[in-house]
Amino acid sequence: MDIAVILPTYNERQNIPVVISRLGEVLQGYRWEAIFVDDDSPDGTAEVIAEYARGNPNIRLLHRIGRRGLSSACIEGMLSTQATFIAVMDADLQHDEAILPQLLETIRSESLDLVVATRNSAGGSMGDFSRRRVLLSRLGRKVSEAVCRCELTDPMSGYFILRRSFLGEVVRDLQCSGFKILVDLLASSRRPVRVAEVGYTFRARQFGESKLDVLIGVEHLALIVNKLTGNILPGAMPLYLFVGGLGLITHFVTLFLLTRFGHFHFVAAQSAAALAAMTENFFLNDRITFAHQRLRGARLLSGLARFTVACSFGAWANVVFAYALWQSGMDWYLAGFAGIVLGSVWNLSISSQVTWRSHRRAAIRGKELAHERMGAAIDN
Ligand code: GDD
Ligand code: MN
Repeated sequence: MDIAVILPTYNERQNIPVVISRLGEVLQGYRWEAIFVDDDSPDGTAEVIAEYARGNPNIRLLHRIGRRGLSSACIEGMLSTQATFIAVMDADLQHDEAILPQLLETIRSESLDLVVATRNSAGGSMGDFSRRRVLLSRLGRKVSEAVCRCELTDPMSGYFILRRSFLGEVVRDLQCSGFKILVDLLASSRRPVRVAEVGYTFRARQFGESKLDVLIGVEHLALIVNKLTGNILPGAMPLYLFVGGLGLITHFVTLFLLTRFGHFHFVAAQSAAALAAMTENFFLNDRITFAHQRLRGARLLSGLARFTVACSFGAWANVVFAYALWQSGMDWYLAGFAGIVLGSVWNLSISSQVTWRSHRRAAIRGKELAHERMGAAIDN
């Protein structure tokens, strides 16, 4: 096997036939395989791939159930092949497959660990990216340089080829979350990585839509924090602190406005501020901390009600605990902080049990049904 190409997919049904035929053309003369890693896309991408895989030994499908994530999909795909050189490429035709032979020849002839397909150097370009997207990409690059300890024009690229032995070196230190697998790979190496770049022009999407959103950006920051702190923090911690921090700001701004300009009594203002922060935290947690279990429609409203009730207990526990500590002679700020910690831990655990749980149970039940159906299909 000369080369394996890993293609993560989520709702890419229409792109599959095109990408498979282009890979066949460009990799003619090589021994190759393409491994699609699909996270059970609702649009039935996996069925389309399976259809091709049945008739073509170069095409393989890794079908993941109950999981989401670009990075983790790429890593599992890479681990499922024995090829010496492994490329990772988007399945949406935005990455130019025509440079695959060049990537392979470069990594092979210069005995490198990794070769990045770069959008903005050596003849590459950002294509018709929006200005906002270009700025976002530049910012990401600055932050990533700090953790990668190597100079790359495009550390945010999702298109690269690596040597199997290099993957083996770093795979146990990977964080796996978010979108930026390249940063994760480079930052996890304990020695300088031998890398090179090959330029190409990033194409516009024709079918389907991008899955990159604010959440992915926040997840990326979490990855950076984690790498900078040497992996001490649990993966979800930065997200949780991020949401909590925003809630704190909202709380104090509301409190300030109501007491200063609204002439509210302190207790009324404090309660209103807590309610505002709680509501905001509910929606942010739904989008960020529990993004993969998002509540929708009527569930969102009942979720908000349950969250508010649950957090009120948290607030009550916070005050009672802090008051007891304060009465026993502890400084007010220490007692206050201890109360906040207790309240937050309570809130996080109760939220993951109560607020976002029924939804998860429904998802699990859905999966069981799918399994039963699959079992029935096999029996038949
Ligand atoms: N299995 C799986 N699971 N695949 C996913 C998931 C997921 O949760 N999310 C996205 N993908 C697949 C998409 O189907 C597509 O093939 C590829 O990953 C890239 O996703 P896009 O949603 O098209 O990303 P993008 O075009 O906005 O972002 C690109 O540019 C970034 C740099 O700005 C990608 O190449 C990124 O990897 C890159 O970092
Ligand atoms: Mn894309």
